[in-house]
Amino acid sequence: MNRRIRRREFVGSVAAGVGAAAVVYAVTDDEGHFEMRRASRPAAKPTTWIGSVTDSSAVVKAKLPAGADCRLAVRKDAGGDALYFRGEAYPAPVHVTRFRVSGLEPLTEYEYVVEIAGKPSTFPAGTIRTVARAGTPWSFAFAFASCAATGSQHPVFTSILDRKPAVFLHLGDLHYTNISRPDPALYRAAWDTVLSSTTQSALYRSVPLSYVWDDHDFGPNGSHGGLPGRGVACAVYREYAPEDSLVEKGGDGAVYHAFSIGRVRFIMTDLRSMRSPDKAPDGPAKTMMGVAQKQWFKNELQIAAKDSALVFWASTVPWIGGDGRGDSWAAYATERRELAEFMAEIGIKNLCILCGDAHMLAADDGRNSDYSGTGRLRIPVLHGSSLDQGGSYKGGPYSEGYHRALSGEGCFGWVEVTDEGGRVSVDFTGRNHLGEVHVKHRFEVGV
Ligand SMILES: [Fe+2]
Repeated sequence: MNRRIRRREFVGSVAAGVGAAAVVYAVTDDEGHFEMRRASRPAAKPTTWIGSVTDSSAVVKAKLPAGADCRLAVRKDAGGDALYFRGEAYPAPVHVTRFRVSGLEPLTEYEYVVEIAGKPSTFPAGTIRTVARAGTPWSFAFAFASCAATGSQHPVFTSILDRKPAVFLHLGDLHYTNISRPDPALYRAAWDTVLSSTTQSALYRSVPLSYVWDDHDFGPNGSHGGLPGRGVACAVYREYAPEDSLVEKGGDGAVYHAFSIGRVRFIMTDLRSMRSPDKAPDGPAKTMMGVAQKQWFKNELQIAAKDSALVFWASTVPWIGGDGRGDSWAAYATERRELAEFMAEIGIKNLCILCGDAHMLAADDGRNSDYSGTGRLRIPVLHGSSLDQGGSYKGGPYSEGYHRALSGEGCFGWVEVTDEGGRVSVDFTGRNHLGEVHVKHRFEVGV
């Protein structure tokens, strides 16, 4: 890139020898070309992040000093007896260690700290709140959202943390680094920058994160399975995401996964790493999911329609919309119809779709979401975005209305599930970081 530089954006830091780090920044020239460059800067603050919390276990990840004698101490009561766990470290230059915490009691709050050489370290303490055993009725709340500037310090993350959700579903655009080169250091730097944010790191330290990417955090705008860095992105996801339930165990496989909390199933699809380009002509060969993931997804739906009280499918892009353009399901209408026909065929009655990408809060009661051609599907669709980006409107119509995120506003979806063993009710509020509610929807499913 030799043309005039128009914009320079900090991306993150990477290891650059013992005790040193290099900053990675992105430059955009006056023709819109994008490139990553490096310079020196101090290393990020220590932190941990958690995920995959069940009734008895959790995954904690941390970047630890190379060669240090580290363990995780987990306590129910301050000053009480601890459970200790040793981690498995990814080799240099990654330096991420994965602790698998086990033997916890259901519905119990624990504090955890990283100890170095048997003593508490400068890593801030985090919290693990275990959930009910999968399959048992339990009422809980969770948050979902997408789209935050790289390393965002927005107070919306604190608002989510303060509400103590059982899980935070991140539906993509965890950062906007738009990486186009197959360089793992760039993907690691992006994660490091996200985890360097004071408000984001506090959230991820104490609320389990379940994450699937969209275009800007998988690759550049509109990225798809043909990205040269596809395998690298998937491999670095595995290093950093605290996710235990990935279906594809191979290092560079797509990152779809599913898990249960109480009688609720969460299906998290990877709609980027196997996708055909947006501009490919629509038809049976054009896909967002790829063959293996789609088969898995259908199978998950079929089982969850019978065995779970409620199913949330996290689709990182809008489901509702009829214009056939852009990168949402409207531009993959043949595959959308195939999925809708399948949903109608199995008679699923307990499905709700959660969407990211569009920078708006919105809800549809199911009157606009049936693409099966049968008129039998009634699937509520909820949008909970964006965490700190300016507003945008996509797809629709949405029966319960929509709200474009305002400048400076941090938006997220809040979902309360009430399950006392019979019918299950769902209360959705699309809200901002100040606690103002812009969109609401309530529905019930029979069991
Ligand atoms: Fe976005």
